[in-house]
Amino acid sequence: MKVLIVGSGGREHAIATAVAKSPKVDKIYCAPGNAGIGQIAECVNIGAMEFDKLVAFAKENEIDLTVVGMDDPLVGGVVDEFEKEGLRVFGPRKNAAILEGSKAFSKDLMKKYNIPTATYENFNSPEEAKAYLETSKYPIVLKADGLALGKGVLICNTKEEAMDGVNELMLDKKFGDAGNTIVIEEFMTGREVSVLSYVDGKTIKIMTSAQDHKRAKDGDQGLNTGGMGTFSPSPFYTDEVDEFCKKYIYQATVDAMAAEGREFKGIIFFGLMLTEEGPKVLEYNARFGDPEAQVVLPRMQNDIVEVFEACIDGTLDQIDLQFEDNAAVCVVLASDGYPVSYEKGFEIKGLEQFEQKEGYYVFHAGTKLSDGKIVTNGGRVLGVTAKGKDLKEARANAYEATKLIDFENKYMRNDIGKAIDEA
Ligand code: AMP
Ligand code: GLY
Repeated sequence: MKVLIVGSGGREHAIATAVAKSPKVDKIYCAPGNAGIGQIAECVNIGAMEFDKLVAFAKENEIDLTVVGMDDPLVGGVVDEFEKEGLRVFGPRKNAAILEGSKAFSKDLMKKYNIPTATYENFNSPEEAKAYLETSKYPIVLKADGLALGKGVLICNTKEEAMDGVNELMLDKKFGDAGNTIVIEEFMTGREVSVLSYVDGKTIKIMTSAQDHKRAKDGDQGLNTGGMGTFSPSPFYTDEVDEFCKKYIYQATVDAMAAEGREFKGIIFFGLMLTEEGPKVLEYNARFGDPEAQVVLPRMQNDIVEVFEACIDGTLDQIDLQFEDNAAVCVVLASDGYPVSYEKGFEIKGLEQFEQKEGYYVFHAGTKLSDGKIVTNGGRVLGVTAKGKDLKEARANAYEATKLIDFENKYMRNDIGKAIDEA
């Protein structure tokens, strides 16, 4: 089989690594890919939003399966474009990817189908939003409706902050049209867990749990990022939590989408908060998490291509999803200054030490080839993942492995997985 993967980050490298293990696969392409992905796939210079070119490439090269890793092309309808041409593609159609593409939509869906989430109101007008904030309880949370690189969420401690937030999102349009509508919701407290799942329209199969670290600095200080590190499984995702979510959240979401005529096929990522009143949905994503994929996929025992095909064909009920009984930790190596401003183009040294190192992975996020050398090319540069028999061992292994890599302005958090000690 020939497989095309769409995207260029650590998540796509983790997907490509899993796809490369499938005995069914002869050749992998990735558009646009990066230097690490280029070691196991042929990178094609087509952007993830260039739908016509992607479709033309898939036709010309007789691609048997395309896997879309990123949110933007999914929300923009890339799957529909492939399907129109009779091409096999893994991911939700546009009318289902709205589960991630519009927070107002997903909140309304949860309300209509009684799926536990924070109480909220949606607003299209800044005046009405501000009137609502006059009588609200604080802290409160403001969310841009559309995609905003994970940065469109403002936690406001006071009325003044919230009023400024409305100006930022709706009037200054900090996130463009993503802020035409905003969600204002109740502030919740509790531990966060990421749960990824495969969905075939009817059946949902839950993967092992994970936890991300979204803030740039140790102790959850600093700005929100795409994610600075992950661990899997989450010790806080207990059997009790699992049972609750299976009863009230997972299948309920899949059935709600089907009932709305928006059959969902692909990955649903449940961002959960474990509150005192029980688990609640913080957000949905319509794709693998980044860097959640970097700890979840290395632990998956199934042939991922078989699972993707079962989702497309509606036969996921026949798949017995299995994960290794161990743990994995991913520490992101970033460029110092991320997520604001940072220099790039520095040579990365030590990558070859990961070759043939069982249980260790270095997933490339922002890298490129330059004059035969691999150099930094983004804010998040690499994700160093290590497995261990348990979380503590995996964490020690991952941090030890970060020492093998060196580049100028290398930055990482030193407390990924600290929560493990509190479990
Ligand atoms: P989201 O993109 O919706 O997952 O939000 C990004 C982050 O903001 C989450 O991972 C939480 O840490 C935080 N957050 C979002 N919604 C709430 C909420 N209602 N209460 C408390 N924190 C929240
Ligand atoms: N790591 C969070 C996300 O992928 O949205």
